[in-house]
Amino acid sequence: MSRHRNVKNLDIEDGLDDYDYSAEEEEDDLSPEDRAMMARGVAEVQAALGVEAGKVTVAQIEESLWYYYYDVEKTVNYLIKKYINPPAPKKKPPPPQQPNGEFATSVFAPGMPISPQPRQSLASLFWDMPWGNIPKHRETTFIPPHVPRGGLLGGSGAAPKMSKLQALAAARKKKAEEKKAGEKKAEERAAADVEQAQSKLKELSVNETTTTSSRGTASMAGAFGRRLKTAQSAAQGRVPLAANEPGLTGSSIPSLSTSATPSTLSLSEDNRPIDKAPQSSFAQTLFASPLEKDSSRKRKLPEYFALYPDLPQSVIDAFSKPSPDDIVLQAQAKAGKKNAAPAQPKKKSTATALSTKQASAAQVTDKVSELKISDAVLPKSRNLDVPAEYTKSQQKKSASFVVVGHVDSGKSTMMGRLLLDLKIVNERAVDKLRKEAEIIGKGSFALAWVMDSREDERAHGVTIDIAMNRFETERMSFLILDAPGHRDYIPNMIAGASQADFAILVIDAKEGNFEAGLRGQTYEHIILLRSMGVFRLIVAINKLDMVNWSRERFEEIKDQITGFFKRLGFQLDKIAFVPVSALKGDNIVNRSTDPAASWYAGRTLIQELEASDPKPRELRKPLRMIISEVYSTMQSPVTILGRLEQGCVQVGEKLLLLPANQMAYVKAINTNGGEPVDWAVAGQHAEIALDGIIQEYVSIGDVVCDPNHPVKVMKEFTMKALAWDMFWPMPVDVHRGRLHASGKVTKLVAVLDRATGAVTKKFPQAIRKGQVARIKVEVQDTVPLEAGQRVVLRRGGETVAAGLLE
Ligand code: GTP
Ligand code: MG
Repeated sequence: MSRHRNVKNLDIEDGLDDYDYSAEEEEDDLSPEDRAMMARGVAEVQAALGVEAGKVTVAQIEESLWYYYYDVEKTVNYLIKKYINPPAPKKKPPPPQQPNGEFATSVFAPGMPISPQPRQSLASLFWDMPWGNIPKHRETTFIPPHVPRGGLLGGSGAAPKMSKLQALAAARKKKAEEKKAGEKKAEERAAADVEQAQSKLKELSVNETTTTSSRGTASMAGAFGRRLKTAQSAAQGRVPLAANEPGLTGSSIPSLSTSATPSTLSLSEDNRPIDKAPQSSFAQTLFASPLEKDSSRKRKLPEYFALYPDLPQSVIDAFSKPSPDDIVLQAQAKAGKKNAAPAQPKKKSTATALSTKQASAAQVTDKVSELKISDAVLPKSRNLDVPAEYTKSQQKKSASFVVVGHVDSGKSTMMGRLLLDLKIVNERAVDKLRKEAEIIGKGSFALAWVMDSREDERAHGVTIDIAMNRFETERMSFLILDAPGHRDYIPNMIAGASQADFAILVIDAKEGNFEAGLRGQTYEHIILLRSMGVFRLIVAINKLDMVNWSRERFEEIKDQITGFFKRLGFQLDKIAFVPVSALKGDNIVNRSTDPAASWYAGRTLIQELEASDPKPRELRKPLRMIISEVYSTMQSPVTILGRLEQGCVQVGEKLLLLPANQMAYVKAINTNGGEPVDWAVAGQHAEIALDGIIQEYVSIGDVVCDPNHPVKVMKEFTMKALAWDMFWPMPVDVHRGRLHASGKVTKLVAVLDRATGAVTKKFPQAIRKGQVARIKVEVQDTVPLEAGQRVVLRRGGETVAAGLLE
């Protein structure tokens, strides 16, 4: 029973000596305090159920109490819904909702606690979900988000519309599938097109003089350009696109440079300095099949198709033949023109017998062939000295903070209150939320809904993913990262903590709730913060309105938590305690006016936030940014959001994306949801519109870096890890910010002395709780990592170890 083990063996500083291994064996035994609380809880639940108590067993009551951390009210509600008045079984469960296009997990069934965690055995863990017979409505679907959450940088909680590019991609994919069935037909169509193109050409009768007029050439260019595109599309059996297709950015569709004079016109390749996989607009327009990042496969394909490793061979073959236009151009070349068809000059053409009329047409086409087909002009890098620009700009300091704590401690309510009292959201908006919340019987969550914008979050009254929001004070600008408290969403909390300069730890002061939190995620979050290098903490002891602003309760909690901090090596002068009521708005922005709270004269929460300095910024180091969101914007179908961990970025700059190992260009940057900016620096969260890359190469958790100083992509790494629980060579999940990878501990190199780091034992068989060890970890797919980064290892929903990469 790991929750209990965490508390029993809280003092990891004490190491092994006083580690009680008997506790491991009596896996499911309760501590005396737990036993007392359990007995009291069972009695209270039975009393509350009255005559209905006979319909549930003591074991069921205990199980629910355990899950709800002895919350009698929630337990009673659950038991009634589950056993006493279960809802009539429906014939067909409704399909799961997928709000906001984000991952919709359907582990929640109405009236059921979230992911119940029976404590008896692994087998009973899935008590209601037999393997191989998972009801359709409970299967989990992952859909990548398309917009930033929580209103950051212009995003909203509303379900995103499918972008035109996405709609186009979906349409193309469908077409590609249909094409498989009708490949033969397509080939015939292509052949027919060749004939048609040739016969059309024969009919061409163009007066030489028209070529001298730039106007004439321009219109020809347009016509030719359209023809070229239509013919190519037709040959592929795909929907032809106009060059000005709405919804596509300039980079995705070639534009014909009509202003150029005939003599300077050239039909050139995309001439941007892209190092890898020249992602021409043509290719991007024609293909949309999902990519496999399998480099070995890519190498076997012709260079042009390296981007599209899973194209059917027939499609590749179709492209290995000259297109109808190529045939025409080659024919023209044969007729004596120099510049025709530079791309495939040696292919045999069937169109050999062109008339002189055609030759003159070819002359026109010769000029036209030099038409420059290029993507929209990229903003050029101004090669700014960004750190110097940043100093000159005298911007306000910016800091991001993560809000952590046990489930239901009031984190989201507190942030909603903060934004309301700072007038970032207005009273009317909150009133509207309150009305909506009351409709589903969750009126008390109205303020939390300011942050919790997902439908599933609102329906269940829990935060699931990190929600972000911004606000400014006179001195600083802040980014809120509101983390989930529920144990199932610890990876999201890790992602939030990895982007934070400091943290607000929220503790529920209500009798019993603080204690339950200690056994639960209050303690786990504290250790995770420590492991991730977050040392500045503001401890907001919340819900003091529920204990009548008892100073004793506040001091009691403060003393206990301070003990943990000391043992975990936090510097106490970096930790502040504030007694608050998020619901009533006491000591958040405004000082409490409750006479019972008059004993507190210290800083309010906002004053503590303003007194918190961000971590030092490393602006002169090479760029490092972990992608936390990928979505489409007006500026680019591939727009990323993330925090710059170090270095700077500017518009026009070339970036390397790992592990895809692809280059991209910075088209636009946005750091505050307002006007685009020219640059961003370490510590800021930046939204970057990319060019020269397709979305399939970009994933949440990927790293963006300076191509001249790339991060290493590795399959195995060595780390110095502090064991949270006993571990040995075994499978683990590796967490680094938003990056989550499957892996395994492959080797236990040595146990180290906690103080000096000297080796105390080589090649141990297992690492025991509290020990520090050097270990080797292998990941399934290569991941970009480098020395000094903090990594958390988890297994089966429990944190096993955390530490630094060596
Ligand atoms: P998760 O994100 O799911 O971990 O929860 P949370 O910590 O964000 O808690 P949330 O803000 O959703 O609040 C949970 C419940 O606590 C809601 O019903 C709130 O109204 C209530 N609550 C929060 N703060 C206070 C407070 O200061 N006083 C009282 N009485 N209730 C509060
Ligand atoms: Mg919350």
